[in-house]
Amino acid sequence: TPRPLEDRFGRVATDLRVSLTDRCNLRCSYCMPAEGLDWLPDETVLSDDEVVRMVGIAIEHLGVEEVRFTGGEPLVRRGLVDIVRRVREAAPSVSLSMTTNGLGLARTAAALAAAGLDRVNVSLDTVRADTFATITRRDRLGDVVAGLAAAADAGMTPVKVNAVLLRGINDDQAGELLDWCLERSYELRFIEQMPLDAQHGWSREAMVTAAETLELLGRTHDLAPSPEHRGSAPAERFVVDGGPATVGIIASVTQPFCGDCDRVRLTADGQVRTCLFAREESDLRAALRSGASDEELAERWLVAMRGKAAGHGIDDPTFLQPARPMSAIGG
Ligand code: GTP
Ligand code: 5AD
Ligand code: SF4
Repeated sequence: TPRPLEDRFGRVATDLRVSLTDRCNLRCSYCMPAEGLDWLPDETVLSDDEVVRMVGIAIEHLGVEEVRFTGGEPLVRRGLVDIVRRVREAAPSVSLSMTTNGLGLARTAAALAAAGLDRVNVSLDTVRADTFATITRRDRLGDVVAGLAAAADAGMTPVKVNAVLLRGINDDQAGELLDWCLERSYELRFIEQMPLDAQHGWSREAMVTAAETLELLGRTHDLAPSPEHRGSAPAERFVVDGGPATVGIIASVTQPFCGDCDRVRLTADGQVRTCLFAREESDLRAALRSGASDEELAERWLVAMRGKAAGHGIDDPTFLQPARPMSAIGG
């Protein structure tokens, strides 16, 4: 029987987010600079075999029930489809999902679904080509739109769309994006911008809050709190115009949900991160590469969980942004 990944506050991590690469083929202004970042050296990135083994340990020894592949951009990882297939073969009942920017998804959605991926969440902040190019610094809106359609066609539903509103750039487009998603039966969620950008440019004043987002959406749509139980989901959902469609708000900053957190993260270079905002990581790669057994790796993972903080502490006067940016954590 597995030993649960319990922290000092009694929270149990059953949801593992695995970053497969820190690289990305977009350059969203709220995430990284135009020139990109100093990517992880290849030799530090876990191999496909190593990823499959670590995920297997999390599932078999530590009770993980849901695995989400993230990046950077996970679709730029060559072995992605194989990794999904191997994890699926080893764990038929685990929930497998991916968070992606959608570039290249049109080409790979069918293969991913066939390999056993259940769901995708696709980042899309605007449905206007000019705004898309402004935010992402790439003229690729059409690829994302095609990727979303391919994911739905492949049956990876519900397809979710993640959007970040930026003041003066796309905050006038919230209702338009919602209508676009409603027409296609994608579940849209708006995310409050978090202090995790590589440039350290985040400011509370510039952040479009959950309250503001609700006010913006309320101008064009009728929203009612969803009666469904939220559980550990980051998104608070609202029924739109009588339903059944919903829109979600992920208010990480103004209404933290850390008390219900059920997440743990594995970075592409084999570090366990107990929180997006953790200041420390636990290196499992060294142990993995020096011949540790599954039991030893599981034990190290359990010890790492003891270091999980109660909350992200963004409001603490002493808050410091973590050294690793969002793109190297996987969101
Ligand atoms: P679902 O299972 O579909 O609900 O996925 P998800 O919303 O948990 O994952 P996704 O990768 O789509 O994340 C959407 C946004 O929520 C991203 O901006 C994430 O950084 C943020 N997010 C995900 N997990 C956490 C978390 O544990 N804490 C905080 N603060 N934000 C999170
Ligand atoms: N704050 C909030 N969300 C962010 N994302 C990327 N950077 C940030 C940030 N600083 C979003 C992406 C994607 C999801 C995984 O996280 O747009 O939708
Ligand atoms: Fe969990 Fe950290 Fe996210 Fe809070 S900020 S919900 S503790 S990962």
